[in-house]
Amino acid sequence: MLVRAPGVYRVQHDTRLLIRALSQARIPHGGRVLDIGTGTGALAVAAAHHGARTITAVDVSRRAVATAWLNCRLRGLTVRALHGDFEAILGTDRFDLVLANPPYVPAPRSAPDRGAARAWNAGEKGRAFLDRLCAMMPHLLESGGVALTVHSCLCHPDTTVAQLREGGLEAAVVARSSVPFGPVMRELTPWLTSTGLIEPGQNREDLVVIRADKPRP
Ligand SMILES: C[S@@+](CC[C@H](N)C(=O)[O-])C[C@H]1O[C@@H](n2cnc3c(N)ncnc32)[C@H](O)[C@@H]1O
Repeated sequence: MLVRAPGVYRVQHDTRLLIRALSQARIPHGGRVLDIGTGTGALAVAAAHHGARTITAVDVSRRAVATAWLNCRLRGLTVRALHGDFEAILGTDRFDLVLANPPYVPAPRSAPDRGAARAWNAGEKGRAFLDRLCAMMPHLLESGGVALTVHSCLCHPDTTVAQLREGGLEAAVVARSSVPFGPVMRELTPWLTSTGLIEPGQNREDLVVIRADKPRP
């Protein structure tokens, strides 16, 4: 049970798929964990249960940062909760585990600066956040570190894998799940169909978790 301020992303299929992948990933205990786009802090809390030594949680939403901080504190966990765009505020720190459930839903409007849509709206191709994340991931990971990122197949897992590999990481899809469209996808169905991103009548999408490993020198 997590506290959730109004407008903060509710734990959903993607959150749960990433937590399942985390539990199967055999991550060594005692690492420094970064949760990018923390929302309620659900992934940060899960990482703590899997033995994280330190937790950093980042979100562009002030409410999300406060919510994640509170959910960690209620469980006796210490978290460094940072407010801002992940790319702008993460400095030179390196992490053993990076978790990301970023905005990834393709949408006719460009990625917004404010409001609850920041949690999902990722611009026309669904990659406004993902492309930046893939470029930054090699710089966020310690040697031997692991990143787990969840997103929809609508925004091209093969591109994510290719971008991570271009950055020198080993990358592959490690989990997949078919889920029914939620309210956002149902509302976007006419536009997604008109652009050919989904088939007429389609009401489910595949989510994937992509694992990236930074090799030791
Ligand atoms: C899909 S939600 C995931 C929330 C939570 N991690 C989970 O799995 O339930 C994406 C989160 O990313 C945050 N976000 C969006 N753009 C961001 C940015 N540029 N930098 C940091 N966080 C961002 C949103 O505010 C939102 O909380």
